[in-house]
Amino acid sequence: MQSYHEFLSEVLIPEQELQEKIQQLGEEISHDYNGQDLHLVCILRGGVMFLTDLMREITVPHSIDFMAISSYGVGDRQASGHVRLTMDLRDDIQGRNVVLVEDIVDSGNTLASVLGLLATRKPASLKVCTLLDKAERRETEVPLDYVGFVIPNKYVFGYGLDLDEYYRELPFIGVVNEDRYTPPDS
Ligand code: PRP
Repeated sequence: MQSYHEFLSEVLIPEQELQEKIQQLGEEISHDYNGQDLHLVCILRGGVMFLTDLMREITVPHSIDFMAISSYGVGDRQASGHVRLTMDLRDDIQGRNVVLVEDIVDSGNTLASVLGLLATRKPASLKVCTLLDKAERRETEVPLDYVGFVIPNKYVFGYGLDLDEYYRELPFIGVVNEDRYTPPDS
């Protein structure tokens, strides 16, 4: 696999800025859930980096769980507005204060589906924390309670977000150089 430098046109959010924002989000969540039960639910796979850094900034005791949704082609998913659950949560969320942790909200279709599903399981509360919000791409309105950065409509990768499953490990959010990068299904 080539180095990410091949495909990077610019660093959109450097590591330090990400970490400072995550610290702020952690403080906010710790304040809001002080003295309460808190259960973080991460949607795989992109949210993993964010979840693990965010956890270290949350000072109230909390538990975590994971779920995964289908990997339909992006176009298909956006066209249908539906997602399919491929890995369910391990624990019941009934009566719990759930915060969904996402790397990015784009069309909003994924989140809308997941929120709809989780709401049927009767959590005490259900909120959303996303690191990135590509607001101008929204097709389905979704409530976002904690947002790291509202970003422009650029093709981004790094810090959990992949390019063909690679480069999730990068500690910053970069913009893809679309002159150099060709998606495999195009
Ligand atoms: C990304 C991201 C969100 C979703 C947002 O996941 O993690 O779950 O897309 O897009 P939407 O708002 O248009 O629905 P992706 O399908 O790329 O899977 P991954 O997290 O495994 O990379």
